[in-house]
Amino acid sequence: TVYDCSIIELPRIDNPSGNITVVSNCSQIPFDIKRVYYLYDVPSGEARGGHGHYKLQQLIVAASGSFDIIIDDGNVKRSIHLSRPNVGLFMPPGLWRELNNFSSGSICLVLASEEYLAKDYIRDYPTFLEFKNYRN
Ligand code: TYD
Repeated sequence: TVYDCSIIELPRIDNPSGNITVVSNCSQIPFDIKRVYYLYDVPSGEARGGHGHYKLQQLIVAASGSFDIIIDDGNVKRSIHLSRPNVGLFMPPGLWRELNNFSSGSICLVLASEEYLAKDYIRDYPTFLEFKNYRN
């Protein structure tokens, strides 16, 4: 459910000349990182996502700027605003997500538990609901 998502505060090494945040396997997040990707140059007003995953776990971070993530478990929707580079949203599998409200120059950093696999995507909402009902 949407309540299985969690906000994870990442460590921040503070320095007057600039901060550092480190994420490594087996420490701050409940999965091993197999893939990193980032989304950038999103035109204002554009939305991304609009899909679910069967298996993939992710940690999503606003590495720069801010955006909203609307998560949906088929029952409950929740909107989360990310705006700090040392705060991540942990997303377990089986959630529909959409990202919108990107600020200019924002960077959406994603740490993922699996390699890219097109078959792991649930691309249409009715199929997502079927999958959820089947599991419940
Ligand atoms: P997608 O995950 O649908 O983007 P978003 O959810 O942000 O809207 O990915 C967009 C395209 O990029 C899609 O054609 C697949 C490709 N892609 C890869 O080839 N490898 C990857 O690791 C990712 C995340 C996407």
